[in-house]
Amino acid sequence: NHEAKIDALIEKMTLAEKLGQLTLYSSKWGNTGPLEGDGYVDEVRNGECGSLLTVPAVRFAKPLQKLAIEETRLGIPLMFGYDVIHGYETIFPIPLAETSSWDLDLIEQSSRVAAEEAAASGINWVYAPMVDVSRDPRWGRVAEGSGEDVYLTSQVAKAKVRGFQGGDLAGNNTVAACVKHFAAYGAAQGGRDYHTVDVSERVLRETYLPPFKAAIDAGAKSIMTSFNEVDGVPATGSSMLLEKILRNEWGFDGVVVTDYTSINEMVAHGAAHNDKQAAQMAIEAGVDLDMVGASFINYLPDLIKEGAVSEELIDDSVRRVLQLKFELGLFDDPYRYLDEAREKATLRKPEHLEASYQMALKSMVLLKNDANRLPLNESLNIALVGPLADAKLDLLGTWKARGQAEHTASIKDAFDQRLGEGAYVYASGCSAESDSLAGIAEAVRMVQRCDVVVLALGEPSWMSGEAASRSNLDLPGSQKALVNAIAATGRPVVLVLLNGRPLTIAQEVAQVDAVLEAWHPGSMGAKAVVDTLFGDSNPSGKLPMSFPRNLGQVPIFYDQKNTGRPFIEGKTHAKYSSKYLDVSNSPLFPFGFGLSYTTFELANMKLDGKQMKPGGSVGVSVQVMNSGEYDGEEVVQLYIRDRVASVTRPVKQLKGFKKVQVKQGEQLEVKFTLTEEDLAFLRRDMSWGVEPGWFDVFVGANSRDTLQAEFELLAD
Ligand code: IFM
Repeated sequence: NHEAKIDALIEKMTLAEKLGQLTLYSSKWGNTGPLEGDGYVDEVRNGECGSLLTVPAVRFAKPLQKLAIEETRLGIPLMFGYDVIHGYETIFPIPLAETSSWDLDLIEQSSRVAAEEAAASGINWVYAPMVDVSRDPRWGRVAEGSGEDVYLTSQVAKAKVRGFQGGDLAGNNTVAACVKHFAAYGAAQGGRDYHTVDVSERVLRETYLPPFKAAIDAGAKSIMTSFNEVDGVPATGSSMLLEKILRNEWGFDGVVVTDYTSINEMVAHGAAHNDKQAAQMAIEAGVDLDMVGASFINYLPDLIKEGAVSEELIDDSVRRVLQLKFELGLFDDPYRYLDEAREKATLRKPEHLEASYQMALKSMVLLKNDANRLPLNESLNIALVGPLADAKLDLLGTWKARGQAEHTASIKDAFDQRLGEGAYVYASGCSAESDSLAGIAEAVRMVQRCDVVVLALGEPSWMSGEAASRSNLDLPGSQKALVNAIAATGRPVVLVLLNGRPLTIAQEVAQVDAVLEAWHPGSMGAKAVVDTLFGDSNPSGKLPMSFPRNLGQVPIFYDQKNTGRPFIEGKTHAKYSSKYLDVSNSPLFPFGFGLSYTTFELANMKLDGKQMKPGGSVGVSVQVMNSGEYDGEEVVQLYIRDRVASVTRPVKQLKGFKKVQVKQGEQLEVKFTLTEEDLAFLRRDMSWGVEPGWFDVFVGANSRDTLQAEFELLAD
């Protein structure tokens, strides 16, 4: 408990020193928005800046820390933040891919490794996990999150917080997590980044807030406000979000940091006349730390002098920032994280690369495998084609932190490694960025002589992530033309997709024999792709976002409402039902979908009772049989539906999942327990709780193909 020390320190601090602690600048080495300073050495020396982001190595951080400790009046240590989103120098698959593994232990381990590397490089604080539920694949930031589902996103959020923060925040291999972006950033209109969000309070609380609550309950030390507005108020100035919900309802006492210049951006939003008013809005709403925009340090002195803002408010924020610095152990030893020898020994350690490789293997989703085209036999005459076949940096995806191309193998490199150079043929075929058709004819000529074509297509990494929204989700550049031309040769085709979001690939899926969704798979992704293609690993990933058939279906997600005129599949003549004239309501691939080289059969679903008593539970069991040719893993998913309630409920909601290994020919039983808590929702009067009545329970290997049973929740 550091309270007494913090109080004593605050007692000694001038207002300027206090505001310095509430000021976070982006270093000259890296920025993710407009850069306004050039290194901040003077600001650090003058105590005008208490934290820095994107200082990417001990050799840069140490002299700055020395300045803060030795040259500022009070010697308060700096805190260093960084966007460590899916690894630091060992890059893991993008978060959307990691979530596709549905393997919470591996996800926790990936954050553990990221924390160990970041901490060894001087970082104390990471801007992750990103827990924005996202249902619109046009939004480039879907790559950074866990997709469309509230429950899955919440589970991943908890695993990541545990991984980053470990058991002891003061340990030299852990970092403070920062759950972001609070809130509802994923609901940007039209999928356009930074765009307006307009959701009802019910949707906000049921869909967008639970993953934040889960991360905070798991101990997340900080939270980042989002760029968007919620109910007409920018999140950074929203007392409804920060004061009412976060502080008062949830009792969060950690640090609230803004996103990059988002206080100043309240002026452009039209919520404040100027930066000064924006600073007042932010501090009054509950913001502690101002990222980059310097509005606190510039305007709070006058606002306090004028009596518009109370100094106690500033003290509360300073207290929270200092508390975090104490918990990180920075006051005990400000150089604890600044050891160059340890940094060198830690980054890209073999165990870390192995963890990234395992994560990549488990992240891959097999979307199609007609006639068991995969796995491939090494003796085949193989053509490797595609603009992403020899890409390195693109495999790392968005937010690659310190990941580097020179440390990353391409799929072509991995083919060379495995088969030997010259043992297969290669052509890039076309461009993923331009419409040029050059290269297609040559690729077509080349593949004529081959037994099978492996097409490596997708999106370059810059096409997803922040400020990377797309209005067209087709394969970009001339890749569609390449698929057409290669498919026309009649050669069997295996499509490997490297992308940061669900794409509209209905036509391509129909044209090829097999599709392996590899996402942007990280530092070891190429080896993982190739080893999966040749059957060393059996894919077991499941989609965390629905893949639309076409853009007109977007947003599309599985936990939709039924409507008053539900469309019944197959009844196309039912004119006055909720449907499109030109495309089915169903996605191309549903949430939770993913195949395996083996086949699984789910049967014999049972409930251990037809009734749940108040406060009681119902057991659900199902047999999983591996009826195919390989050992494999299946993700058994549990969904419910509340048939009738005071407010309408979704047709299905995920409430549990288990990833199980089942050997070839074996059968095992998977069990779940549903409790009253799983049935709770925001009732008509906005209270959280259950309502008695009948519930459907579904068990399946994806959200579409499920077994079904029912039970009744009894009244009190
Ligand atoms: O953490 C990020 C955030 O996700 C987007 N804006 C910039 C921040 C710091 O780099």
